[in-house]
Amino acid sequence: MIKQTIRLLLIEDETFDVRRVEKTLHPFKDKIQISDVVADGESALKRLRQSPNQFDVIVMDFQISGSLMGENLIREIKRIDPTYQIIVMTKLTINSTDFDFANRLLEAGAMWYCTKYPGDIIDSIYQPTDFILSIYNAYEKRRLEKQRLKTTQKLQKNIEDRLEAKPLIGQSPYIKQLMDLIAQVAQTDTSVLIEGASGTGKELVANHIHYQSPRKYEEFVPVNCGSLPENLIESELFGYQKGAFTGATQDKKGLFEVAHKGTIFLDEIAEIPPKTQATLLRVLQEGEIDKIGRSQKIQVDVRIIAATNMDLKKAIRDGLFREDLYYRLNVVPIRILSLKERRDDIPLLVDHFLLLTSQEMNRPKPSIQKQAMDQLIQYEWPGNIRELQNVIQRLLFFAKSGITEQDVQLALGVQGGEMAQDHEHSNSFWSSTNMLPWREMERELRRAYFEFVRSQSKSDAEAARKLGFAPPNYHRICKELGLK
Ligand SMILES: Nc1ncnc2c1ncn2[C@@H]1O[C@H](COP(=O)(O)OP(=O)(O)OP(=O)(O)O)[C@@H](O)[C@H]1O
Ligand SMILES: [Mg+2]
Repeated sequence: MIKQTIRLLLIEDETFDVRRVEKTLHPFKDKIQISDVVADGESALKRLRQSPNQFDVIVMDFQISGSLMGENLIREIKRIDPTYQIIVMTKLTINSTDFDFANRLLEAGAMWYCTKYPGDIIDSIYQPTDFILSIYNAYEKRRLEKQRLKTTQKLQKNIEDRLEAKPLIGQSPYIKQLMDLIAQVAQTDTSVLIEGASGTGKELVANHIHYQSPRKYEEFVPVNCGSLPENLIESELFGYQKGAFTGATQDKKGLFEVAHKGTIFLDEIAEIPPKTQATLLRVLQEGEIDKIGRSQKIQVDVRIIAATNMDLKKAIRDGLFREDLYYRLNVVPIRILSLKERRDDIPLLVDHFLLLTSQEMNRPKPSIQKQAMDQLIQYEWPGNIRELQNVIQRLLFFAKSGITEQDVQLALGVQGGEMAQDHEHSNSFWSSTNMLPWREMERELRRAYFEFVRSQSKSDAEAARKLGFAPPNYHRICKELGLK
């Protein structure tokens, strides 16, 4: 039940019809009020612009004097505020069974249209209950549209915040091209395969594709294929029905179902075992998933972005990756260059991470000497942007207000795992002025060693192997150490 009085703007140039509208509404004057009457289109727009909150519903005569009337007027009103609801009244002379006419009105943005009674009926303009109901409906529709608009605006703001919090930094022609490609591919549903070395920004690019796409209000589901144990991967991806096997005490939604209407990000796709590769290929071909223990397939609408830091072509040659799956995934290939191949981005990235990290640490952003920057530009960056980010964090941890060449050398030295012998001067982990509690130090050492091994490995799986960890444990520890 609508509690508030509904306020109308009446656009009508014939006094006789204004009076008929008033008479029709009179019995409902507590509920519906004519807030203002104008005789032409221009005055109507002026009133709506002047007092945007004065009117809830607009009732307009189709044919009025002046040049602005009919569908054009409807469009102009909608341009001021798309939530305005407009009820159009027409003369009986207009053929009331003219479907095209009604359609044109609705297309222009009218909410309802009615035919005025003939002139000899002087007490009402139109069947009163229909008239009242259309006004009520218009009011309710506007309320809902306003609500929806608010929610969408909030979601939109959320997404903008998200992209702003994780910007894609760079000024090289390559990065500009990459941004254009992201914008372009975001508008489609095609599968994307992102290839790039460890830490080059594959996940970041996948994120940008999703949040710039029409799917942005739905889920972005990242899946690290390398960290899922082989026997669980299918149930993680596709889910299972209660009772499908011992231990399946409840239905489980697979990640593909979670990503329905959104995007799934299959990271480290090369790590998918052969059997699952076959299943995945079927899902891509048919758009349906086979939930374990369920006889009917489930339709899913999921956009797929896959990523790898391995040479998939080589994996195909070695018989480790299915060629047909590769072509399905690789509709749009995106190759992310290593940092050393686009050194002109380094200064901007350094600046970005210096600002970001100092904000996180609640301290002023230190300046950086030219030689120090030059050194960062010249470095090889085997761990790419992730390594750069870690180096900057380390620099901020130890450096004073201005970062010197020596600071950089120390930070990079530790990064490469080359522990210096002269603890007092050349080891940035500890010195007489910098003694960390053991727990923190232990973490630093672990992190440095993990980073070193990662920088010397082609994939996470390889790094895990070298470190002697099962992939899930390896990924967990990386997360704990802030490496992921
Ligand atoms: N162009 C960029 N601008 C700003 N930050 C970036 C950029 N590229 C990557 N980063 C940041 O670097 C870090 C590593 O990026 P991301 O995780 O996307 O890389 P990745 O290629 O998926 O790495 P891995 O192979 O290790 O999984 C993240 O913190 C990311 O936000
Ligand atoms: Mg990644």
